[in-house]
Amino acid sequence: MAEIIGGVGCSHVPAVGAAFDKGRTEEPYWKPYFDKLPPAREWIERMAPDVCIIVYNDHASAFDLRMIPTFALGVADEYPIADEGFGQRPVPTVYGHSDLSWHLAESLILDEFDMTLVNEMPVDHGLTVPLSVMYGHREQWPCRIVPIMVNVVQYPPPTGHRCWRLGQAIRRAVQSYSGSERVMVFGTGGLSHQIHGERAGLINTAWDHAFLDRLVADPEAAAAIPHLEYLREAGAEGIEMVMWLVMRGALSGQVTEAYRASHVPTSNTHNGLLLLEDHGGPAVPAVHR
Ligand code: DHB
Ligand code: FE
Repeated sequence: MAEIIGGVGCSHVPAVGAAFDKGRTEEPYWKPYFDKLPPAREWIERMAPDVCIIVYNDHASAFDLRMIPTFALGVADEYPIADEGFGQRPVPTVYGHSDLSWHLAESLILDEFDMTLVNEMPVDHGLTVPLSVMYGHREQWPCRIVPIMVNVVQYPPPTGHRCWRLGQAIRRAVQSYSGSERVMVFGTGGLSHQIHGERAGLINTAWDHAFLDRLVADPEAAAAIPHLEYLREAGAEGIEMVMWLVMRGALSGQVTEAYRASHVPTSNTHNGLLLLEDHGGPAVPAVHR
């Protein structure tokens, strides 16, 4: 049985990727943020996941307004790095785990989550920045990566509650996989930020931390937060935080917070990092209708 060993919540600010790629992490603007990362990198080294399921949103790189699935699951063995207008980020190729992906597809769809299955998908900063944050410079990523894309760009995005339940279905799916993989689930995006319009620059660190507290200790309460509250309190792009609920839903009730860091500013964003260690609840049987 494959096992879920923990979760990572991680903002995916594109400027962090650029600072990292251009070797600017020691500059005064960036150093205070990058100085917060070594404990996270030591933790993931120790946890040593074989597979990272990365729940992220695409920013008009693979999908655009012509077609935007609510939930998409990558089933490929390889995903190219997207060119977001400045060339591809110089990061290693993202290698998938198509056997696990197809198992997830079967389990999630029979569990009544209508995933769009994607064979070809360039992955953008939503997925690559959290990898750089957690793993730093690498010749190769030390794990296989299964991308799960959530629409938080075109209204209406899925509710936080739906995302939480998707996470629970991911847990059932992983636990019914015959392999012995150690799986880490990432939820990316957020925290509060708004990058356009009259409220551009909005940041609400108090609300963000209250959200993280609830996410850890009372995730059902976090899952009940309506869209309007995210928009009002965390800004139009703060809705990305629903993806952290997918991560939390995939963990058990026996979770400890291994590390939390946050920093303002990086770009226009309250940049958050949350590491959760899963001490393993009872295995949940897969639902196969
Ligand atoms: C920015 C873009 C993002 O996708 C995000 O999650 C945070 C910040 C930006 O353009 O600054
Ligand atoms: Fe984003």
